[in-house]
Amino acid sequence: MRKTIQQINEKKAKGEKITMLTAYDYPLAALIDQCGIDMILVGDSLANVVLGLPSTKDVDMEDMLRHTKAVDRAVKDAMLVGDMPYSAYQGDTQGAVANAERFIREAGCQAVKIEWFENCLDVAGRIIQAGIPLMGHVGLTPQTADKLGGFKVQGKDAATAKRIIEQAKSLEKVGCFSIVLECIPDKVAAKISQELKIPTIGIGAGADCDGQVLVTHDLLGLVTGFHPKFAKRYGDLSRVIKEAVSAYRDEVVNGRFPDKDHSFIITDEEFKKL
Ligand code: KIV
Repeated sequence: MRKTIQQINEKKAKGEKITMLTAYDYPLAALIDQCGIDMILVGDSLANVVLGLPSTKDVDMEDMLRHTKAVDRAVKDAMLVGDMPYSAYQGDTQGAVANAERFIREAGCQAVKIEWFENCLDVAGRIIQAGIPLMGHVGLTPQTADKLGGFKVQGKDAATAKRIIEQAKSLEKVGCFSIVLECIPDKVAAKISQELKIPTIGIGAGADCDGQVLVTHDLLGLVTGFHPKFAKRYGDLSRVIKEAVSAYRDEVVNGRFPDKDHSFIITDEEFKKL
């Protein structure tokens, strides 16, 4: 049975930390789920870490649904959250509810996530009124990072911190069940987490959030190039994969693979008949 919103909320009430990771495909989603992670987010970070696209704005509903369906086939225990792509709600307020419904009906999600933007509360209200559990996202919002001065820490001065606190409070008021806090100072995240009843899930937002999320490819060391400060590497899969692929290449080139253990045989008697 997948985790419910009630169980996620109970964790905050009991002071137990909530864990969330991203997944985009069947095999990794299955492994993550088997590790007891509470929530799996099919993030629009799909664009960067899987599809090699420059911006999260470059994925659309069809991209997100294809990958979310693959993750849905793998997940047994975690709550599955679908990340609404930019064009599904920021450019198309009318279609936002219909698109959110597709994540639930077609792709098996228990909830969807949207990032803060100027018309956020209206869109959030409509999705929630349609009965779809919604996770908010404030602080650094990658889909509109150009309006925030780029990919940098938000809320470092009192005025912007106050704005982020107000955004988080208004998302709780409109009915979100949880909020991602991305790239904000730890004290600001702690204040939001204390003042909200709903759980906060931090990424680059310090230790006092009610839960944490990371992009799985960062955690596993599967991405090369820019690596944000907050994205702790717990593994070095790039090295492991390169070692395995290089060993395979060398064995093929040198005639050591395939050996007898990895080949099939025909008896001499049968072979003679050819
Ligand atoms: O798309 C994503 O991976 C996200 C997380 C960073 C929260 O939104």
